Amino acid sequence: MKQAILKEKAAKKALDFVQEGMTLGVGSGSTVRFFIQALADSGIRPKDIVAASKDSEEALASVGLKVRDLNSCDEVDVYVDGCDEINERFEMIKGGGAALTREKIIAAASAKFVCIADASKQVSVLGEFALPVEVIPMARSYVARQLLALGGEPRWREGVVTDNGNWILDVHYLSIVDAPAMEQKINAIAGVVTVGIFAKERADVLIVARENGVEVIER
Ligand code: 5RP
Repeated sequence: MKQAILKEKAAKKALDFVQEGMTLGVGSGSTVRFFIQALADSGIRPKDIVAASKDSEEALASVGLKVRDLNSCDEVDVYVDGCDEINERFEMIKGGGAALTREKIIAAASAKFVCIADASKQVSVLGEFALPVEVIPMARSYVARQLLALGGEPRWREGVVTDNGNWILDVHYLSIVDAPAMEQKINAIAGVVTVGIFAKERADVLIVARENGVEVIER
């Protein structure tokens, strides 16, 4: 089965976690695009929706779903987002779409993180997918040297500017065995805005679509 079909199946299943009147967080990426369409088609109307990227904001608007500023909402009840990798503890790498900072903010503000993924995203150790790190532009070289010292090979995602006006370094060849420790270590480097390790803000629920069906796993 094509990866896109699996993404769509996982995205549709996430509707089980969405109710009328709730505050819903919507992440970003191609799996989330399927979720946005499924939400629009379902007729379920959350009270408020907050979006993790301008791209998702536009996609939501295009199907008639209005987005609110996170500052004008209380706690977000459920946050639905994809991932680039997820391990057995539901720790993730995110940021393939460069939206990691806003994604982490909404994840932190949410009571429940529902991760939607196709089976290719499940790994035993995080790090085969190059780890995105959002940096303040003037700190790029300094941060890159620090990441090199940690054993990774940082590459600048040239030409990409995040929704927050920053740049992205993708760190290759890091084997992230202790995700909470690595998240803290990279976050502590001056000039780092957000690291794409979601260990503190790991998922509460994983909806994973495989060839033989969709599984919902709660931790
Ligand atoms: C964007 C993200 C996405 O959730 C991640 O890249 C997965 O994307 P896709 O659903 O297109 O595979 O973290 O910053």
